[in-house]
Amino acid sequence: MRRSVHTLRLTVSRAPDGGMVGEGYAAAMTKFVRTLTNDPTPDHERATIVEKPVFGANFSDHMALATWTAGVGWHAHSICALQAFELHPGAAALHYGQEIFEGLKAYRQPDGGIALFRPEKNAARFSASARRLAMAPLDEDDFVSAVTELVDLDRDWVPSPEGEQSLYIRPFEVASETLIGVRAAQEYTFCVIASPVGPYYPEPVTLWATPNYTRAAEGGTGAAKCGGNYAASLAAADEAAAHGCGQVIWLDGAEHRWVEECGTMNIMFVTASGDLVTPALTGTILDGVTRDSILALAPEHGLRPVERRIGIDEVFDCVTSGAITEVLACGTAAVVTPIVGFAAPGANGSDRRFTVGDGTPGPISQAIRTHLLDIQYGRAEDRHGWLRRV
Ligand SMILES: Cc1ncc(COP(=O)(O)O)c(C=O)c1O
Repeated sequence: MRRSVHTLRLTVSRAPDGGMVGEGYAAAMTKFVRTLTNDPTPDHERATIVEKPVFGANFSDHMALATWTAGVGWHAHSICALQAFELHPGAAALHYGQEIFEGLKAYRQPDGGIALFRPEKNAARFSASARRLAMAPLDEDDFVSAVTELVDLDRDWVPSPEGEQSLYIRPFEVASETLIGVRAAQEYTFCVIASPVGPYYPEPVTLWATPNYTRAAEGGTGAAKCGGNYAASLAAADEAAAHGCGQVIWLDGAEHRWVEECGTMNIMFVTASGDLVTPALTGTILDGVTRDSILALAPEHGLRPVERRIGIDEVFDCVTSGAITEVLACGTAAVVTPIVGFAAPGANGSDRRFTVGDGTPGPISQAIRTHLLDIQYGRAEDRHGWLRRV
């Protein structure tokens, strides 16, 4: 069978000679060769976007790229003008879903500098996702370099910290080989794009315990950050909305009993006895960076971090009795989202409803949220050494 090796091409050619290669800080440390755009967004236009950013609506001027080819390995590391991909209609990612991604943010600091939050955790998760999908794992240092250097180059796209604005960074990898046939592709494309994002003041959410869907099963891809997991979640999200709920609480695939996570966030329960309980990482749950960070901060909020299995019946009983006082969901986008209620199928087609506390966001969730944001924006001491200056 004839196989196209180079299936991905760029529809816009790179700046022929106007590009500046090997500049400054980043180039001194990296294999990502810089070619600057010769068509940057005009200053006034960028300033307008960055002043009032809309989540995922606009992108910075550049992107990072690298290609992996069987027998060659990773090569062609570059940072160049943001531009469209041309993928052959037979590209494997379009048919068999070999696609993984990450999400992290760059935060403007009080001195005007920029910091990333634990990017090495995203790098490690990206490698793990790649291995699970039989894709080529990118060197974790190269992942961090790509992110750091893109942010460095597009630093004017990082908004001011007012109103919790930041630059959202989206690294991803796709199987770009032209391939009709189910096997691991022989060519992958890694790319990083960045989008200034606005304040995210999360609304309190009620969760729907869907009887019809599961997000992940043992041995499946639940611990990987792959596009297929999100596509499979959308019908359940529609079902949640039909029951007046903002998101789904995912239960395990085998017994449909054990809490895993919610929507696109990890979930935590604050108990009256001072525990911060979150489902243990069993291989079906995404190992969230925010989850890990909050568990580390828990003692500073008088909480004992506890990772264990927790059943949905225990949750409903403890919410009803008051043994669980607060529930929070956590992730990079919203940081902390207060969960104020649950709904589940009841008798005769009606729903059972459970209210957490008095149905409003609790003080501990709010304090943890503020604490984490203060670290990310450089307003609180970074005792854990989580920030990486760009
Ligand atoms: C399914 C899922 N769980 C949890 C998280 C939280 O992960 P993180 O804190 O690393 O953003 C996310 C967000 O990426 C997610 O998509």
